[in-house]
Amino acid sequence: MKAAYLQFEPRFGEVSSNLRAMQDLAANQAGEADLLVLPELASTGYLFQSRDEVFDLAEAFPGGPTADCFTQMAFDLNAVIVGGFAERSGDQVYNSCALVRPDGSSHIYRKAHLFLDEKDWFVPGDSPFEPVPAAGTLIGMMICFDWYYPEVARLLALRGATIICHPSNLVLPHCPEAMKVRCLENRLFAITANRTGRDERGDRSLSFIGMSQVVDPGGQILVSAPPDGDHVGLVEIDPRLAEDKDVTGRNNWTRDRRIDLFGDLV
Ligand code: ACM
Repeated sequence: MKAAYLQFEPRFGEVSSNLRAMQDLAANQAGEADLLVLPELASTGYLFQSRDEVFDLAEAFPGGPTADCFTQMAFDLNAVIVGGFAERSGDQVYNSCALVRPDGSSHIYRKAHLFLDEKDWFVPGDSPFEPVPAAGTLIGMMICFDWYYPEVARLLALRGATIICHPSNLVLPHCPEAMKVRCLENRLFAITANRTGRDERGDRSLSFIGMSQVVDPGGQILVSAPPDGDHVGLVEIDPRLAEDKDVTGRNNWTRDRRIDLFGDLV
């Protein structure tokens, strides 16, 4: 299958032009993709000034322009789309991503580990770390700072994920290196789709590091983006490689885990 990330710079609050930018980039550069990952909060931008502001920009899924756009992209590209958005559910707002299949069916993952002021804007996610069937394999989702908690990738791997889709708005520099380890220690693929540029709101600003990437189960980067600029990285991957959990002739990732010594972790 062909897996891809789409890196771009959302403009804060300009939902329709952000959606159009992603649609245009995808149509021009990701036409062959079977799986395309978009950044975190791709339709709204990131640096909110209040919970009310997030609430006003947040959307139900389905039922809003982001859901319509992701669904249209999945259909047009005949690909699975995974992308981040601010999700309104009743009177709660989550930092979520949606996985949408070409037939329009979808799953939502709500970010568990909120970063910095996201704690003022969103409710922590309540989604299980459970992969879903899509594109002929099992796909796990996590959002940006979830990378800092290796338990997330580990649970997704233990439950059979072969690919982790990782919509992001990275600000710290460590994640691209860390994701190589997440892949190696869990023997799966990861697609990190980050944004670029800077949100400037009031007296505050935040810069994002780009460097989106696809990593294989051996921890090798297959394709990666520069720190700035729009970039679609597309690469052929075989998810079956992630089903082989033999590390050496005498070491199996699953069977050799010493859960009898892991104590509180299990
Ligand atoms: C982040 O979790 N957006 C850094």
